[in-house]
Amino acid sequence: MATTKVSIKWLHNLIKINGWNIHTEFTAEAIESFWTFTENCKIYCSLFCIGMAYRTNLITLCFRQYSTSAKRSPKELRDKSIRDRFLRVDHAGEVGADRIYAGQMAVLGKTNVANVIQHMWDQEKEHKKKFDELLPRYRTRPTVLLPIWNVAGFVLGAGTALLGPKMAMACTVAVETVITDHYNDQIRELMNNPEVNGELLEIISKFRDEEMEHHDTAILHEAEKAPLYQAVSQIVKIGCKGAIWLSNKI
Ligand SMILES: [Fe+2]
Ligand SMILES: [Fe+2]
Repeated sequence: MATTKVSIKWLHNLIKINGWNIHTEFTAEAIESFWTFTENCKIYCSLFCIGMAYRTNLITLCFRQYSTSAKRSPKELRDKSIRDRFLRVDHAGEVGADRIYAGQMAVLGKTNVANVIQHMWDQEKEHKKKFDELLPRYRTRPTVLLPIWNVAGFVLGAGTALLGPKMAMACTVAVETVITDHYNDQIRELMNNPEVNGELLEIISKFRDEEMEHHDTAILHEAEKAPLYQAVSQIVKIGCKGAIWLSNKI
């Protein structure tokens, strides 16, 4: 309103200077109406511009220079997508492994294999912790199936342990075989771009070696002497591969 008054005064002065014969009250009303009209026009024009900018993706184009993802080349985007997938599935795998050993320890925690299982469990905790840290750093989301792998891992570990230490070791051999192969596949793919994937290559290679060590430890603890070893091993392997496939997807 203050602006309106200034405008009216300015127009009155203009009328006086030029000697125009215009009724003052009429002019004030006219100015008032005109001012309201222009105010409305400003709002409508702004809305129209925003609408047009949205329609023509102008906003996206304007902000593109400030967006890190939009600046990435197709190759960089592809690399990021691969890393996201790897981190998500590895994190899911380590959560599952942590729960498997937790289940085994819940049943066999007071037997002569407790120390061996505890050592492997401690390493799995470290693996999980590392992926917990990497996920936010690489801006990767975890799999939505995490709650399921939490329960399924514990049930698998405790269930096989209830059938005896050899069956628990048979489960370990099957799981670690699939995980080692899975990590080897990832290492091969990451080696396509070792400069960019240096950190992941180092971490996954170290974990792969430790998973292989778990496999060998379980073999040393007579996993192959478990009843129905081949059948149980195949079932666990199929389950693990299914979990990897699902965690890759969602
Ligand atoms: Fe692990
Ligand atoms: Fe392991």
